[in-house]
Amino acid sequence: MSKFMDWVDARFPATKMWEDHLSKYYAPKNFNFFYFFGSLALLVLVNQIVTGVWLTMSYTPSAEEAFASVEYIMRDVEYGSILRLLHSTGASAFFIVVYLHMFRGLLYGSYQKPRELVWVFGMLIYLALMAEAFMGYLLPWGQMSYWGAQVIISLFGAIPVIGNDLTQWIRGDYLISGITLNRFFALHVVALPIVILGLVVLHILALHEVGSNNPDGVDIKKHKDENGVPLDGIAFHPYYTVKDIVGVVVFLFIFCFIVFFFPEMGGYFLEKPNFEQANPFKTPEHIAPVWYFTPFYAILRAIPDKLMGVIAMGASIAMLFVLPWLDRSPVKSMRYKGWMSKAWLVVFCISFVILGILGVLAPTPERTLVSQVCTFLYFAYFILMPFYTRLEKTKPVPERVTG
Ligand code: HEM
Repeated sequence: MSKFMDWVDARFPATKMWEDHLSKYYAPKNFNFFYFFGSLALLVLVNQIVTGVWLTMSYTPSAEEAFASVEYIMRDVEYGSILRLLHSTGASAFFIVVYLHMFRGLLYGSYQKPRELVWVFGMLIYLALMAEAFMGYLLPWGQMSYWGAQVIISLFGAIPVIGNDLTQWIRGDYLISGITLNRFFALHVVALPIVILGLVVLHILALHEVGSNNPDGVDIKKHKDENGVPLDGIAFHPYYTVKDIVGVVVFLFIFCFIVFFFPEMGGYFLEKPNFEQANPFKTPEHIAPVWYFTPFYAILRAIPDKLMGVIAMGASIAMLFVLPWLDRSPVKSMRYKGWMSKAWLVVFCISFVILGILGVLAPTPERTLVSQVCTFLYFAYFILMPFYTRLEKTKPVPERVTG
């Protein structure tokens, strides 16, 4: 075996890669619950790719046959229903895991220097993931697939001068048709998965270049032993590979329970109108995107002017991109930040959740008012950040990790 590895290593850096990224990658020893979600995101990514490939074997990307081919997968293809529900539930699970993963970043200042690029690659993954989910949702060609896409694509029409041409270019037709379905299929199964995989590699390479942050926000590279191993670090393999298995098992229990017993999740994971075939002549009573888009949808609707709404929605995501440069705090972790950072993070999270709930519901004047207040607070969290992070009194950060 070792001779074989010598042969390989002379031609390909297999052992070097194993050591650099696993057996000699020293991660802080105080990782907590929130550090499970990176590896879980990887797990869900693999689930989506594997089930996606098998679904593609039986799915037909045409306006005439798409809906029926999904029914065929659900009823006649062996293990088809499980494959499909693993994929549809996986989409929601992906966003749950990624939102918790991002929240960890906010909590422990993981986006701060020197991890700005880790965060920016993460945000690019998030954008690609949103595009991936949006295009995937058109494929079953149900009522909500059709009308959801109709609403989102028409947003581009609000852009002055080029708006109309742009929407036509995206659809490839004067209305959403089989042509749109075909291009979304190509992007969903080929182009975007490649982009996402590439970005995940860049994300992890950037992280391993600078090393992981931790719940204390302490730099573990400051204190090393005589062999250059950080005193507060432990080898990723076997310690965290084994620890991550615990997260994987708990996750799979919950995930499989949903897949087997509540795959529709009360209409949140699979929406009711989508059990009816797309009908361009019949608008559903109430159109709402899937739950993971609704906070941004609520921001869009909070602003009466369509163009301004689209700009606000874009800005709400752009804010997250520049987060590393808005936080001026001398400390990383919420544990040592002042009360203003803590209060604003709570306000931000509550606003985000309320926006998410409002985005699912039909608008009323009262709800619109609440969503306007939450939109204001959402932006205030970012815009005021350079001020409150600089002004507030922080606690002293310990030299070594505390656990
Ligand atoms: C497909 C989606 C993603 C995958 C597979 C992924 C994977 C990972 C993995 C395996 C880690 C190391 C383990 C950990 O710290 O939990 C990590 C760290 C990190 N990720 Fe992601 N990630 C994804 C999306 C995102 C997004 C959307 C963001 C934020 C915009 C993000 C921001 C970060 C940050 C800041 C770290 C470093 C955390 C620290 O050291 O404290 N990631 N990611």
